Amino acid sequence: MTARRSVYLETMGCQMNALDSELALGSLMQRGYQLTGDLLNADLVVINTCSVRQHAEDKVYSRLGQLKGGKQKRRDNQIVAVIGCMAERDGDGLLDKMPQVDILCGPSELHRLPGLISDVEATRERAIALSGRLRDHTTSAIASVEHEDLEALDSSRHFGVSQHAAVPKVFGRHQAYVRITRGCNKYCTFCVVPYTRGPEQHRSPDQIVEEARRLADNGVVEVTLLGQTVNHYHFDPKGPADTSFARLLRRVHDEVPQLPRLRFVTSYPRDFTDEALEVMSSSPRICKYLHVPAQSGSNSQLKRMNRGYSVEEYMGLIDRARALMPDIALAGDMIVGFSGESEEDFQKSLDLLRYCRYKNCFVFKYSPRPGTNADGRLPDDIPEEEKRRRNNEMLAVQAEVSLANHQGMLGRKFEVLVEGRSKAELKRQERDRKSTRLNSS
Ligand code: SAH
Ligand code: F3S
Repeated sequence: MTARRSVYLETMGCQMNALDSELALGSLMQRGYQLTGDLLNADLVVINTCSVRQHAEDKVYSRLGQLKGGKQKRRDNQIVAVIGCMAERDGDGLLDKMPQVDILCGPSELHRLPGLISDVEATRERAIALSGRLRDHTTSAIASVEHEDLEALDSSRHFGVSQHAAVPKVFGRHQAYVRITRGCNKYCTFCVVPYTRGPEQHRSPDQIVEEARRLADNGVVEVTLLGQTVNHYHFDPKGPADTSFARLLRRVHDEVPQLPRLRFVTSYPRDFTDEALEVMSSSPRICKYLHVPAQSGSNSQLKRMNRGYSVEEYMGLIDRARALMPDIALAGDMIVGFSGESEEDFQKSLDLLRYCRYKNCFVFKYSPRPGTNADGRLPDDIPEEEKRRRNNEMLAVQAEVSLANHQGMLGRKFEVLVEGRSKAELKRQERDRKSTRLNSS
């Protein structure tokens, strides 16, 4: 028996990363690792990274900077793994700037993480597994022991882990994600995801249904199906097993009756079929919630973004959804300050926000990403200060819209799922703890 080893795991970015972390953690725990919150003393540090905006990458550099030395010394022989989108996008940059990084592992290679760790333990040399650039330094012996296909990570799921006491920072104890699609083919001009996560690939409906069933049998009360463009799901469109997103939704809903809540994110505004909306509206345990990013309310900006739909088409989807489900909760994403965005374009985005009456809307300042189609071709010509102003103005409009939504619910009764304490509440608690410590010392 070897002594138990500790892993510090930090997850940045989107729901896909949250799921990847859970699955990677499951496979590490199977191999005897236990979670720790102690960055400097962990045997293994795993940072699951995001590349979608520069700010997300800066956070990774700052965390890795803490392991560089200085006053606080990190544990000898500590292994540091950078996994996820930034490993894939910025591999060389990370290796050059951060000598403390031992492992780089891209999002499509995560099933190989345990093998990479064994490799570093055996050789003390860096181990790298990136799909994009074929710079794979793992030994074939280790690689062949691991599963080889993209299904490997998801199908290795350990059903106890989503309820592990140390995980709720990322996941609610009774909520779980199930991946239905990997990657994205859309190539929106601002977005790095198709490069870091690769082309769209769909999982088999049987596996998805089975995973949802096992989660429900293990006490999960809400499953969220995950994909970058979740409504584009189609499995084997040419063969007899043709399954559209609508049919997949129906199958999970009907074949896992013990699951109280079923949701899905993120929807792409184009090609949302009436059939999918009808399945939603007629299935009582599917949450009436659509996260469907518009990105802009101006047709010329949508064109520059290569989004493939017009504002009118987007509004058409919102209208169809509301006609079938008058109470539907809508959520959106908007980018402000994208290349060429005039004040008029920006005002049109605000108009769209008001039209959609989103429950909430995530607002992002445009951040140019190296390697994307916008990078180098469409100038980043809105000054940072102006991006900030538009960001704040949009948030203020959204706050009004949200308030009106909330007021509309006064006096009504809903069944709710308690997810846990809010981030704001956790921060408040932390502040209180600190001030108690100060007062008592
Ligand atoms: N379909 C994906 C989108 C991934 S990126 C999903 O699952 O949500 C999430 C959001 O980040 C996008 O909808 C977009 O609003 C924002 N975003 C992506 N690239 C960006 C960039 N370069 N600058 C600012 N925001 C960006
Ligand atoms: Fe990104 Fe557009 Fe796909 S925002 S994830 S390229 S749909």
